[in-house]
Amino acid sequence: MQVHKYDVVIVGAGGAGMRAAIESGQRARTAVLTKLYPTRSHTGAAQGGMCAALANVEEDNWEWHTFDTVKGGDYLVDQDAAEVMAKEAIDAVLDLEKMGLPFNRTPEGRIDQRRFGGHTRDHGKAPVRRACYAADRTGHMILQTLYQNCVKHNVEFYNEYYVLDLLIVEEDAVREDGTPYQQKRVAGVVSYDLASGELHVFQAKAVVFATGGAGKVFKTTSNAHTLTGDGMGIAFRRGLPLEDMEFFQFHPTGLAGLGILLSEAARGEGAILRNSEGERFMERYAPTIKDLAPRDIVARSMANEVREGRGAGPNKDYVLLDLTHLEPAHIDAKLPDITEFARTYLGVEPYTEPVPVYPTAHYAMGGVPTNIKGEVLQDNETIVPGLYAAGEVACVSVHGSNRLGTNSLLDINVFGKRSGIAAAEYAKTAEFVELPEDPAAGTVALLDAVRNSSGTERIASIRADLQETMDANMQVFRTADSIAAALADIEKLRERYKNISIQDKGKRFNLDLLEAVELGFLLDLAEVMTVAALHRKESRGGHYREDFPDRDDVNFMKHSMLYRDPDAETEGIKGIRFGTKPVVFTRYEPMERKY
Ligand code: FUM
Repeated sequence: MQVHKYDVVIVGAGGAGMRAAIESGQRARTAVLTKLYPTRSHTGAAQGGMCAALANVEEDNWEWHTFDTVKGGDYLVDQDAAEVMAKEAIDAVLDLEKMGLPFNRTPEGRIDQRRFGGHTRDHGKAPVRRACYAADRTGHMILQTLYQNCVKHNVEFYNEYYVLDLLIVEEDAVREDGTPYQQKRVAGVVSYDLASGELHVFQAKAVVFATGGAGKVFKTTSNAHTLTGDGMGIAFRRGLPLEDMEFFQFHPTGLAGLGILLSEAARGEGAILRNSEGERFMERYAPTIKDLAPRDIVARSMANEVREGRGAGPNKDYVLLDLTHLEPAHIDAKLPDITEFARTYLGVEPYTEPVPVYPTAHYAMGGVPTNIKGEVLQDNETIVPGLYAAGEVACVSVHGSNRLGTNSLLDINVFGKRSGIAAAEYAKTAEFVELPEDPAAGTVALLDAVRNSSGTERIASIRADLQETMDANMQVFRTADSIAAALADIEKLRERYKNISIQDKGKRFNLDLLEAVELGFLLDLAEVMTVAALHRKESRGGHYREDFPDRDDVNFMKHSMLYRDPDAETEGIKGIRFGTKPVVFTRYEPMERKY
């Protein structure tokens, strides 16, 4: 086992991790650990844009952007964080422009902007052009640009180093009111080098988690195979809370049956959703902004059309995205990739035929709780000194119960930058925390348990069953019965997971081992998601309970905080403690959410 020492270690090389690294790398000795090669990170799959109220093509301002974010998140958004994000959005885009990102331009040479769901002029009056974009490969361009700038700033990358543990020590401490508590402090991380199978311990004054989401708990998802919630899972296993995990976003336009993302930018450029009768059904659900309503509303409307028998196709199980009225030259210029996806994967020609689409699991609104500096919270009052999180792994919370499209590329840039600066500044004065004796012991035990297992269950089969039940029971519509069915299945799968075996017992590039470990995280997170969903007996944003169809601000205007705690029990599940955290309000009172 090798031990490395850095001021700052960043875990994850997607947009948030690399944006943090650019800041940290200029201020402190910084390493980035990633289980992939950096430019294969999932940020590269983001398509339609990154929003900022630049007002380059029509009137706009950051206050309207804040309002849209808060309303889009069904008022569960922490409004101080949303204000920071909307204000700093402008510089975040200009930073990328200066770094060399090739944005699409207006004829005058300004960064062009397009419409996206839920982004409006003057508090909901009409859609506004707020998303800055590079055709339909904005995430790809961001990822490449950030990587090139990390190289420029001499950031050290450890590629295909899979972080499996966060080293935390606990100290006796006393709160201001005299109550004693255990203060957690970060000492470093333990990682597994895929190429050699060796373990590497990284001692660090500060650690930034930027490990992305957990979309692979679902079968139909826009997420890459690697999005297995490792960062959330590691934090949870180390006794840190997870916030608002019941809220998972279903992007309306996944390619039907496949889930591959077909950007909302298509609707931003004028595409229309139609049912089997050719009706533009969003006119009924969101009369003012129609197809450009927030994603939770559009996804539910689509699912409702299918339920009520107006789905298209032989099984009436999808709706249609119609681009046929758009000029082919316009499609080619603005939406080249997604139209090619429709041709390649569904054999549909978008110039002349509508494209079959259905909601696809896309984004976790919840995650590891942080404040606006990116500092991770160990409970509502206390941060973990030296630990930061940014991007989809984190919950700031700027997305509340439903994220607006293009706010995630923005989130990773704003809070990636903030956490990179904060981590490096912290490292300037902090001392290294002494590593625990035998720091890799937990990781060795985890890997040995998998390697030496000789059970009869296959990883792929347990994962497939998990994804089936999550798709069937935790999708756009939920009830107590469906959520409980998912939870019961998850508990059986956790038992089956104790009886696995892997076929590859080798050291080098052991993907069998990797996938077994990832499945452990997926099972933990699916359990947390379903427990939180059972507990929230209301409908809000992406969490729609048919048995509680209304938003209930009296009882549920609060964040859910779930902790791993061997002495606790929540919704019949031993080992999970449930808590809440107040929502931060600054200027917007909750209103009825009409579009
Ligand atoms: O539709 C899209 O291009 C996705 C954007 C996002 O999730 O922000």
